Amino acid sequence: MTDATKKVYVKSYGCQMNVYDAQRMADVLAPEGFVETSDMAAADLVVLNTCHIREKAAEKVYSELGRVRAVKRERAAGGLDTRIVVAGCVAQAEGGEILRRARDVDLVVGPQSYHRLPSLLAEAQVKPGIVDTDFPAEAKFDALPAPTREKTLARGVSAFLTVQEGCDKFCTFCVVPYTRGAEASRPVAAILEEAGRLAAAGIREVTLLGQNVNAWHGAGEAESWTLGRLLHAVADIPGIERIRYTTSHPRDMDGELIAAHRDLPQLMPYLHLPVQSGSDAILDAMNRRHTRDDYRRIVDAVRAARPDIALSSDFIVGFPGETDADFADTMRLIEEVGFCAAFSFKYSPRPGTPASDLAGQVPEPVKAERLSALQALVDRQQKAFNAATVGRTVDVLLEKPGRHPGQLAGKSPYLQAVHIDGDGAAVGDIVPVTITALGSNSLFGPRADVAARKESA
Ligand code: 5AD
Ligand code: SF4
Repeated sequence: MTDATKKVYVKSYGCQMNVYDAQRMADVLAPEGFVETSDMAAADLVVLNTCHIREKAAEKVYSELGRVRAVKRERAAGGLDTRIVVAGCVAQAEGGEILRRARDVDLVVGPQSYHRLPSLLAEAQVKPGIVDTDFPAEAKFDALPAPTREKTLARGVSAFLTVQEGCDKFCTFCVVPYTRGAEASRPVAAILEEAGRLAAAGIREVTLLGQNVNAWHGAGEAESWTLGRLLHAVADIPGIERIRYTTSHPRDMDGELIAAHRDLPQLMPYLHLPVQSGSDAILDAMNRRHTRDDYRRIVDAVRAARPDIALSSDFIVGFPGETDADFADTMRLIEEVGFCAAFSFKYSPRPGTPASDLAGQVPEPVKAERLSALQALVDRQQKAFNAATVGRTVDVLLEKPGRHPGQLAGKSPYLQAVHIDGDGAAVGDIVPVTITALGSNSLFGPRADVAARKESA
C-alpha cells in the first residue's frame, strides 16, 4: 500500500533540461504515493535539482540547503520527518563532497540515475547518505513512468521533451561533458511516443531538448535520421501546432535542419545558436572548432531559409587570454548578426576543465565592464526587435492567465511574451494578435480575429 499523503517539493536550477528532469523525477515518485507541492514547509521530501555550469550556480545549492535545514528543524519540532535529495549536475560533479558539507542530505543522485529514486530512497531510509552518480547501462528514459494526462496538462500547454543528452564537444570552459556524459540520442520511437502522449493530453507546443540537440541522430533502422527529419515526424503528430528545439551547436547545423526551417510551418522561427565569442583566437582557445565566419555563413543560410527567423545566442566574456581587441570582435559580430535576445556570462573557471588552468585569466573588473557593455548592446537589439513587432499581427499561443483579471499571457512565434485581454480566448488557444504596445518585458495588443468580427458586425 502506498501512503497518498506524502508530499514532494522539487526545485530546479539552471537549464531547461533540468526542468524536464525535475518533472520526470516527480513522475517516478508519483507511484510511490508522492504528490507535488510548491510549499517546502509542507514537504516530506525535498529534491534540489542542481546546476554546475558556473560557480555561482553551484554555490547556490549550499545556501538553499541551509534553508532546507531550517525547514527540516521546524518540521521536526512538530514531529514531522523531512528527507533531502540533491540531484542534478552538482550531485554528479561533487558526489560525496555534498554529504561532507551538508550532513542532513539523505541522498545524492546524478542526472543519469534518477529513475532509480524509489529504490535509492528505500536504501537511504535504512542508511542515509547514499551517493549514486553512475552512468548506468540501462536506459533511464525507458524506466520512467509517464505522467497522467491531467498532470501533463497541468504543467502547461507547452512542454519540454528531451531527445538528446550529453556532449562530446569538450569546449574548454564547460563542465557538461563531465556532468552529463557522452552524447546520447533517444530512439525515434520513444520520442514520437512521448510527443504523441503530450499531444493527446492537449499539449500544443513541444520544445525538443538536448545539450547538443542538433547532434541528435537516429539509430538502427533510423540510422540516417537527423534532427531535421525528426522535426518533420513530430510535426506530423496531430495536435502539435508548434515545435522548437534547443540548444544547438553551430557545427551541427546541417542542411536538412536548415531546410526544415523553410519547409515546416510548425517549426517556430526562432533559433538559439550559441557562438560564445566573435574572436577567432578565442573560439580556437575555447575549442569551438568553428570560426566567426563559419557562424556568419550559418546565420546567412538559416535566414535564407526563413527570412524572419529570430536568433539568440550565449556569450562568455573574459575567457582566459581575451584582449580588448578580441572583445571588440565579439561586439562587432553582435552588430553584424543582430540578435533578438542573448544570455551572457562572465567566464567562470570550473574545476577539471582545461580553461581553468590557462594563463591569462582576466581580472574581475574587466569581465564586469565587458559584460555590461555587451548586455547593453544586446538589450538595444532586443528592444529594436520588439519595437519592430508593433503594428504586426502575430499568432500567440496562450499559456496562462495574465497579471490582470481577464488577461491572458502567451508567446509569439519569436518567443516574445505577449499579453492580451482574454476576449473569449482560453489557455491553449493560438490566436492572431495585432501588437499595439510595448512594455518592458511584454508586448500587448487585441485579438485580430475578434477585432475583425467587431468591425464587420
Ligand atoms: N563560464 C561562464 N559561462 C559558461 N557557460 C558554460 N560554461 C561556462 C563557464 N565556465 C555558458 C555558455 C553556455 C551556457 C549554457 O553557459 O555560454 O552556452
Ligand atoms: Fe558545453 Fe560546448 Fe558541449 Fe555546449 S557544446 S555543452 S558549451 S562543451
